[in-house]
Amino acid sequence: MELIKSKTFANLVRAYAGECQARTRYEFIEYGARNEGYVAMAELIDKVAYNEFNHARMFYSFIQTASDKPIENAEVCAGYPFKEKWNLLDNLKFASEDESNEAVKIYPEFAKVAKEEGFTDIANLFTNITQVENCHKMLFEQLYTQMKNGTLYKKDKAVKWKCSSCGYEHTAKEAFKVCPICQAKQGSAMLKIEDEN
Ligand SMILES: [Fe+2]
Ligand SMILES: [Fe+2]
Repeated sequence: MELIKSKTFANLVRAYAGECQARTRYEFIEYGARNEGYVAMAELIDKVAYNEFNHARMFYSFIQTASDKPIENAEVCAGYPFKEKWNLLDNLKFASEDESNEAVKIYPEFAKVAKEEGFTDIANLFTNITQVENCHKMLFEQLYTQMKNGTLYKKDKAVKWKCSSCGYEHTAKEAFKVCPICQAKQGSAMLKIEDEN
């Protein structure tokens, strides 16, 4: 089957658009986090946005293989979420829901179709990216829960905190209010995220 005439081609276009939008939404969230002083959280979200850029890049690369000529227009029917407003806590929850939708529903289905149509490499790409989106989902879930419960910088037991701007470390239940080396505020203390894998 020719890629350009396949369902997989349309799914690649949908996925590419979805990744571009996810990246932009995360830049919105990152911008909000940084404005509110959650520097370390912003850095984590920025990394997720960069992951989405690279997913988009890989989908784009496969789209390019579908035709020798420039693709003037690829028209597909698709829907995308527009839930985020400008509340950081809500946005973290929405982001985790959107990642879950990609990881649980959309990409596994796209992988299945690609496999049925004989595009093994593309099926593998969808499957591998599903795993990453699942990790993103868990990251956003943890950020949401910790922020909601007030445990981003406060733990039951003493833990090691590290300043993301200068590397200062100390062990305590609560992260430094102001870093004694670089004067960064508490929002620069690196967050405790359990390994998703
Ligand atoms: Fe992605
Ligand atoms: Fe993601």
